[in-house]
Amino acid sequence: MSRHVIVVHGGAGGFSKRDEKYLEILSEATAKGFNIIERGGSALDAVVEAVVVLENSGKFNAGLGSCLTLDGIVEMDAGVMDGSTGRVGCVGAVRCVKNPIILARKVMELTDHILLVGEGAEMLAKCLGLNIDPSLLLTEEKLSRLSDIKEKIRKQGSLRLKKLDKIREVCPDLYGTVGAVALDRAGNLATATSTGGYWLKLRGRVGDTPIIGAGIYADKTSAASATGMGEVIMKTLLCFRVCQFIEWGVSPQKAAEAGISIATKRYGSGNAGVIVVDRNGDIGIAFNTRGMAIAYMYEGMDRPIAEIRIREDI
Ligand code: GLY
Repeated sequence: MSRHVIVVHGGAGGFSKRDEKYLEILSEATAKGFNIIERGGSALDAVVEAVVVLENSGKFNAGLGSCLTLDGIVEMDAGVMDGSTGRVGCVGAVRCVKNPIILARKVMELTDHILLVGEGAEMLAKCLGLNIDPSLLLTEEKLSRLSDIKEKIRKQGSLRLKKLDKIREVCPDLYGTVGAVALDRAGNLATATSTGGYWLKLRGRVGDTPIIGAGIYADKTSAASATGMGEVIMKTLLCFRVCQFIEWGVSPQKAAEAGISIATKRYGSGNAGVIVVDRNGDIGIAFNTRGMAIAYMYEGMDRPIAEIRIREDI
């Protein structure tokens, strides 16, 4: 028997138990999405609206909270996929929108395309009145964090673009992503994911989030959303892999663990996390980083459970 459910994440990375300030926002996003499905709305609406809450919070690395590139601008990626129809919409490297996830949904609903990037995606945003002045995404706090990170790295040696692994050792919380997966009352599954990428990325870099099978995937059997180092997630094809394990009969939790274990074996730890839900409403959450911020709400619960899960072995 299936039960409707939504699972939300605020990224995998250097979270610690002290980071409780994130939990309230995760709960709010989860409750917003859950109320939509509780009232008979679609999984698609639920995951998009949950992600909008996280994008608007300014606390997570997505939407208003997006990190800065090496040269100090914001470029965001987002993707949404409807498992029941196989429809998908994604945007990459967009600078002038507040809610990239809404623009991704518009790509899905209004165009024949799957992925629009940069200027083209921004033109669509302008046509739809979804654009904002990109300087609104730049805050004093972010600019000061950028110079702190650069300074920290300079102290360890030079700022080399091909040394991200080293940079992560100094700053374990360089990246983050937000995402949601849901199963609605009608049995439809959907996923939505949004990110600013990671601090110090090069202008024009697009990560896993708008790549089907990597940062997002949904079909009639399951829906997944990934977080972490996009290059690792793309090479692992993490979300598709996890969903395929589920199609082959593996439980969502074991499938999520198996996907993360493949990423870890190939590319080391500290770089990936995934959430997944199947058509029965069973969920899976796994990560190879120190912590991951997650929340979920099932049919029958009166409020979401939000927590920072910590791996003591990493
Ligand atoms: N997972 C987010 C990124 O690497 O862009």
